[in-house]
Amino acid sequence: VNCMIVKNMSFKVGQTLTVVGVPTADSTNFAINVGPDEKDITMHINPRFTAHGDENAVVCNSFQEGKWCDEHREGGFPFHQGEEFKVIIEFTPAEFVVTLSDGSKIHFPNRMGAEKYSFMSFDGEVRIKSVEIK
Ligand code: GAL
Repeated sequence: VNCMIVKNMSFKVGQTLTVVGVPTADSTNFAINVGPDEKDITMHINPRFTAHGDENAVVCNSFQEGKWCDEHREGGFPFHQGEEFKVIIEFTPAEFVVTLSDGSKIHFPNRMGAEKYSFMSFDGEVRIKSVEIK
């Protein structure tokens, strides 16, 4: 399993996180995770080509106190194996607004309620090309 971890970053309310990457040619799924530390994830964005019983769906969730919480499915599926994508995550006071490459959006609540998160990871079959916080 591939996993790239970013610690000690600062992603705050009012900021936008932009991730550009390319799923591998045989990617089954990959994930973008944002959270307060290595154990907890406030926002898991998991595009699934074919994984966990899903086909071409983006599954979002949080991982709190050792457990996955309620899944949230929204937006289109503008991902293709071997083709570049861009995911834009706006951190508003109430929620994360995720814009996918086709312009479709996912609204995911900030379940942990913090105004700043400092941990990010990328998991699964993807090559991350750039990460920018503005
Ligand atoms: C699970 C999967 C996790 C995560 C979670 C989201 O089935 O194993 O990696 O994607 O769903 O709810």
